[in-house]
Amino acid sequence: MPAQSDTIYIRWCKPSDIVDPALIDYYWSMVSDDERVKILRFIRPESQHSSLVTRALIRCYLSQLYPHIAPADWRFSKQAKGKPVLAMQEQGVLAYFNVTHTRDTIAIAVSERYDLGLDVEHIDSSRAKRLQVAKTVFTESEQATLEKLSGYEAYHYFYTLWTLKEAFLKALGTGLTIAPRKIEFLLNENQVSVDLSQIDMNGADWQFALWDVNESSMALAWQQGAANTKLPHLDSAEFIPS
Ligand SMILES: CC(C)(COP(=O)(O)OP(=O)(O)OC[C@H]1O[C@@H](n2cnc3c(N)ncnc32)[C@H](O)[C@@H]1OP(=O)(O)O)[C@@H](O)C(=O)NCCC(=O)NCCS
Repeated sequence: MPAQSDTIYIRWCKPSDIVDPALIDYYWSMVSDDERVKILRFIRPESQHSSLVTRALIRCYLSQLYPHIAPADWRFSKQAKGKPVLAMQEQGVLAYFNVTHTRDTIAIAVSERYDLGLDVEHIDSSRAKRLQVAKTVFTESEQATLEKLSGYEAYHYFYTLWTLKEAFLKALGTGLTIAPRKIEFLLNENQVSVDLSQIDMNGADWQFALWDVNESSMALAWQQGAANTKLPHLDSAEFIPS
């Protein structure tokens, strides 16, 4: 990756596409002992596979951006509230990343300049009760907008807002220690604005991007500062770790 690249890279894959036993063996060869334990803790084979592919996506994609570091050589640590970060300063790599998974989609975002959060959620329009959750995580005005929508549009709006809130919280690294209903999003076509006054932050400092991938909503959040008006280039594509 060029020094201080002003690009944010987003890559995703479908774990169900990855069936080649040689590729899967290669993934096992690159994970750390801790990661192996974490993967094997999942009982369902699909969950184990998804967790393995997540590790491989992180390692292989970072090595594509930084070819002098082999997939098995990446080291990670965690912030106080659990956000994984790279521990590669000694190897000269200072980059931010965040990972997300949902049913059959795994995605990663990487940037040298901006700390970020990424969230993907499968749009499950078969579970009517799902929309009830809006009462606990949406603001009153967001709920009022949702109530005006029906059918797939309602689910799409619900998951778009859900992923935006989650991506923002993942960028901060706080998890749910900040209540999602204190964060208010306004969508205008694909333009996103946010009111963060309830958590004493300035919404103008934040940028968001949205994608629809594999029947899922995906949102990216990064803090760029209101004074910095030059938006980064968003480079997004499918990527099979190999
Ligand atoms: C754990 C949490 C950070 C994300 O959970 P999630 O949406 O279920 O899961 P995602 O697949 O998007 O993200 C999980 C990944 O985020 C990363 N992560 C873990 N803790 C994190 C944190 N505090 N901040 C940022 N990223 C974190 C990890 O890489 C993790 O994947 P891994 O364990 O395979 O490495 C947290 O926000 C949470 O518990 N959310 C629950 C869902 C919810 O109620 N959301 C309300 C939104 S309106």
